[in-house]
Amino acid sequence: MSNSDLWIRDIITTYGLSLVIFILIAVVISRKWSYLQNRIYKAYLTGFELECAKVMAPYKRHLFQSLEHIVSNDNVLRSMGSIRLLEIGVKMGENIQFYPDYTHLIGVDRNLKLADYLIKGNRSCQFSHVIIERLIIGDGSSLKEIPTGYVDVVVTTRSLCSVTSLKSTLQEIHRVLTPGGQYLFVEHIAENEGTFVRWLQGMLSRTKIWPSLFGGCHLNVNPIVDIKNAGFNHVVWDTFTVESYASRSFHWILSKQHVLGVAVR
Ligand SMILES: C[S@@+](CC[C@H](N)C(=O)[O-])C[C@H]1O[C@@H](n2cnc3c(N)ncnc32)[C@H](O)[C@@H]1O
Repeated sequence: MSNSDLWIRDIITTYGLSLVIFILIAVVISRKWSYLQNRIYKAYLTGFELECAKVMAPYKRHLFQSLEHIVSNDNVLRSMGSIRLLEIGVKMGENIQFYPDYTHLIGVDRNLKLADYLIKGNRSCQFSHVIIERLIIGDGSSLKEIPTGYVDVVVTTRSLCSVTSLKSTLQEIHRVLTPGGQYLFVEHIAENEGTFVRWLQGMLSRTKIWPSLFGGCHLNVNPIVDIKNAGFNHVVWDTFTVESYASRSFHWILSKQHVLGVAVR
């Protein structure tokens, strides 16, 4: 036997069993991946979303207070003192509590259970102050069902990170807004370049590890440049850091920087 044959034999004898176990585990994980993904998503995110709703509430309250002063461009809605609002990524209706009475809501989400959450679910009575005009299960980057200039307000909160195309989504937001209509947003954004967290955000997003576990969420995006380039007349925004996290601190550390703002068409 040559030296290299002996070397390979030594490696197999020493690490053979570990290698076989490793390959078996990798095969089992890859075969059960979508099942595991679902379990992780449900077990982990249910708690996180509840905590997130609590932590984000003061910022959202601040952002949505301007809704009380918006006057609808639709004659009928204006005469009733209500507005038409479209939310992309409406999920389980976490933001509806902040919407003024009689708001005509169009909810968009790619989650197939949208109607179960908002109309049939136990929580639907919490939404009785708004009128759910329409629910669209689909992608926010293609709002074909909504006529141009149809809505007074568009809202996204912690949702742009997972849209299929940021540019198309912003184009659609701009298109469906009435002239003078407002796009209100609170989105988590990437950390400053050169920090360890920024590197981690990039690595977890580029390798698709994070998006595949957490509903397509990318940690390395900052939509503000695209929002400014989307054709709005006026954009104001501010950044802030969420510090008051309790549990799931890893998730919070990776998504604690936020941008909050208003873009006027
Ligand atoms: C992290 S949750 C945020 C939910 C809620 N807006 C909040 O602030 O708590 C993101 C939501 O956006 C939805 N979503 C992600 N990408 C989407 C897309 N391309 N079109 C429509 N909805 C999308 C997801 O299904 C999910 O319900």
